[in-house]
Amino acid sequence: MDISTSLCGIPLRNPLILASGILGNKGALLRRVAESGAGAVATKSVGPEPREGYNNPTVLYVSEDIVLNAMGLPNPGCEQFAGEIETAKTSGIPVIASVFGRSQEEFSLVAMAMEEAGADIVELNVSCPHSLPRLKGLHLGQIPVETKGVVKRVKQATTVPVLVKLSPNVTSIVEVARACIEGGADGLSLINTVQALEIDPLTERPMLGNMVGGQSGPSIRCIAQRKVADVLTAMRRGELEAVPVVGAGGIESGEDVARYILLGCQCVQIGSAVLKYGLDAFSKCLKELEGYMKEKGYETLEDFRGKSLEWLV
Ligand SMILES: Cc1cc2nc3c(=O)[nH]c(=O)nc-3n(C[C@H](O)[C@H](O)[C@H](O)COP(=O)(O)O)c2cc1C
Repeated sequence: MDISTSLCGIPLRNPLILASGILGNKGALLRRVAESGAGAVATKSVGPEPREGYNNPTVLYVSEDIVLNAMGLPNPGCEQFAGEIETAKTSGIPVIASVFGRSQEEFSLVAMAMEEAGADIVELNVSCPHSLPRLKGLHLGQIPVETKGVVKRVKQATTVPVLVKLSPNVTSIVEVARACIEGGADGLSLINTVQALEIDPLTERPMLGNMVGGQSGPSIRCIAQRKVADVLTAMRRGELEAVPVVGAGGIESGEDVARYILLGCQCVQIGSAVLKYGLDAFSKCLKELEGYMKEKGYETLEDFRGKSLEWLV
């Protein structure tokens, strides 16, 4: 059985990628994720200068299936972070640098710094639901024309493939995807967290330090599959130029990985499952994915990639 794949021309030993924001703030941790079986790793989102992030609590396990977070994009700034990329690169697997900024200029400066440090792919986080500066009451990734401008600027400044991480918190994810592709995006990752809030009935106040945050974990898996399907069906129908799609949202088993590959995803990202299972999340998902493929008689991911999309087109 062969579960190797590629992303924007870069070979991956398997389709499982560590999602941005989980264990991704240190090169040494990213190396451990690589050793635990991941096909590639994404870093915590990095900006132009150091940021402390929000007050605690920043991450809450509301239930088995609901994770709520509002970290506030804490990071040491791109200059300081370059060394972590270099360490992560010694793992031998592709390193995706997640970057954010407050303007086209900042996005391109950080992306350039990450490319210079050795990142194989840059992922633009235009979709943090609670901590990017708000333009006209919306965040960057909710405004297609602004998103297109950022992507275009980063593409002009870099040579590595550029992914854009999309927000589910929009009226039409297809329109945002279109803007990214028109701006030159080489691929799309979706979804980031779903805007959310939890009230503590005892203290009678919101539970997160930042009050509001983003939801992840199995409770968003069906929302994510729908958003991924919206984008991939538009591509299949020829309404949107086809680029690789990386699926994310609530993946914690081999069957979950299969769900996203069946929709046509090139790879998947795993985030909250690492908070639940630790680094074993990768070996668990790989073993279960291989079990699923064996049972179905599939030898490669191509044997079933996009099979379920036919029902939707
Ligand atoms: C604690 C935490 C921190 C996150 N930080 C980031 C981040 O810095 N940048 C980013 O693009 N996404 C971030 N995310 C979103 C994840 O990368 C992912 O898109 C989302 O959680 C859905 O996947 P999951 O259900 O497997 O967690 C974060 C998620 C969590 C739970």
